[in-house]
Amino acid sequence: MDAALRSLLQQMPKAELHMHIEGSLEPELIFALAERNRVKLNYPSVEALRRAYAFTDLQSFLDIYYAGASVLLAEQDFYDMTWAYLQRAHADHVLHTEMFFDPQTHTERGVPFATVINGIHRALQDAHDQWGMSGALIMCFLRHLSEEEAFATLEQAMPHRDKFIGVGLDSSERGHPPEKFARVFARCKELGLHLVAHAGEEGPPEYIRTALDLLKVERIDHGVRCLEDEALTQRLARDKVPLTVCPLSNIKLRVFDKTADHNLLKLLDAGLTVTVNSDDPAYFGGYVNDNFVQMFDALPLEKSHAYRLARNSFAASFLDGATKQKYLEQVDAFFDR
Ligand code: ADE
Ligand code: ZN
Repeated sequence: MDAALRSLLQQMPKAELHMHIEGSLEPELIFALAERNRVKLNYPSVEALRRAYAFTDLQSFLDIYYAGASVLLAEQDFYDMTWAYLQRAHADHVLHTEMFFDPQTHTERGVPFATVINGIHRALQDAHDQWGMSGALIMCFLRHLSEEEAFATLEQAMPHRDKFIGVGLDSSERGHPPEKFARVFARCKELGLHLVAHAGEEGPPEYIRTALDLLKVERIDHGVRCLEDEALTQRLARDKVPLTVCPLSNIKLRVFDKTADHNLLKLLDAGLTVTVNSDDPAYFGGYVNDNFVQMFDALPLEKSHAYRLARNSFAASFLDGATKQKYLEQVDAFFDR
């Protein structure tokens, strides 16, 4: 890729719509927080922990990701983690971010819900005050846990309803189909929350269909396996259902063998509203710009694709119409230079 295209990818205005804040915990911060909180880790050093990041599938990653999150105890820990991500996102010209958080990973360990959300939310406010960056939170239910536990989490979240805009579904996909959470998603819809779900990452295309039909989600997180089902692909294109794709995650979790095998260009060619995101940047070898650069290096993607992806990132966001329009005009102005 030539230097001009690389610089364009890095500097173009963009939104990030699929990033788990707990997945932005870098090994150095995990060790610093472990020391601060006197939490014992099963790894002797930062290097040893980083060496363990050789995943064979989604579950092998999740096991380490949940172990890493065990160092988060105080509100300031959640603030520090979020602030570190926001600084990196700002450097990558992310103007708007919709971040996932996994409250159950923390409440299960006795950390109060308020501690989690207040720390994350305060960092988002500071990013807004300092750089004008906009941000929002999407609370994810862990799909390996029960629907009853999801309902209990929603109950704990209600006093903080003004601090998050939607709910999602993450963790182990296989064996935990969307319909397991149909009733809790129906309740969230009644509450006026936005709805998204991970589907078609490792799980079959059928999970994408049931996420749409039974959970009534507005976006699909990942969704890369949709291309195995032509009718589904046509439906996603026709209804402009955004897919928040995370290329480096898909490589690290062995959904595709190597970057050149990724189906990002095929998804775009199928007319889908694709966005590029980092998922769990501390674990998968890069933040959002690394995802863009590595895909454009590996696939025959050009400036016109960059323009589409930048526009899609804002178009697929849950921003209000006027703010969305303002960002889209910023993208247009950037590409018209
Ligand atoms: N939690 C964090 N990252 C995830 C992913 N890529 N898929 C499912 N659950 C996750
Ligand atoms: Zn994800």
